[in-house]
Amino acid sequence: MSSSSSKFVYGNWKMSQSLSSLTEFVKSWKAVSGLEVGLFPSYPHLSKLLVEMQKIDPQLKIGAQDCSTEAEGAFTGEVSANQIRELGATHILIGHSERRQRVPETPVSLKSKLQSALSAQLIPVFCIGENEKERAEGETYRILENQLKVIEGFEAQLILAYEPVWAIGTGKVAQPKDVEEAHAFIWKKAPKIRGLLYGGSVKPDNSKDLARVAGVSGFLVGGASLKSDVFRKIAESVL
Ligand code: PGA
Repeated sequence: MSSSSSKFVYGNWKMSQSLSSLTEFVKSWKAVSGLEVGLFPSYPHLSKLLVEMQKIDPQLKIGAQDCSTEAEGAFTGEVSANQIRELGATHILIGHSERRQRVPETPVSLKSKLQSALSAQLIPVFCIGENEKERAEGETYRILENQLKVIEGFEAQLILAYEPVWAIGTGKVAQPKDVEEAHAFIWKKAPKIRGLLYGGSVKPDNSKDLARVAGVSGFLVGGASLKSDVFRKIAESVL
């Protein structure tokens, strides 16, 4: 198990926040100290959140949910890691299972994204996790091991999030025992990472127990990160 004792709670807003709900969130947000808190809004909301949060909670980290494999050029509809960094964002999600499902991510594309993010000086939060069928077939550890091959050479520069796909947005949170086993496996394979988050249906009523599980450095929270009071409760439960 890693000696890293840093704690992180990140909110992945997906495509779920509007400009007015974002403003509501910022207005009612109160900083939490003692851990790193971060938010990942949609691209069009990055600038506004960066400017607004600067006044309320300058320590809060802000990142994007994906980036192009390319640094610049004729790639209509894509957003580069450099453009994200230029705005002032510091972090980036890479390999979230919802991206993996919607675009044909490959080990090569994921590696390029990691490289682009790191050259732009963004800290990647790299997501891995098995789906329901893979777990049922006893393939969890083979899948995790394969997914971890992508981060070879980058380990020390990134944060990992273990997010079993069957637990994302489903309300089916993984049991502490399953989380402990998966986290122990990942730490063994990637001991140099900066932290290992759990993600998948984290809510204030399960976050305290999950935060106590060995090997858990914090959470990547989807649905429960949209409201500031709920997200804050989760952050406090990690302290
Ligand atoms: P959820 O999403 O908390 O809504 O399950 C987690 C995630 O997708 O990162």
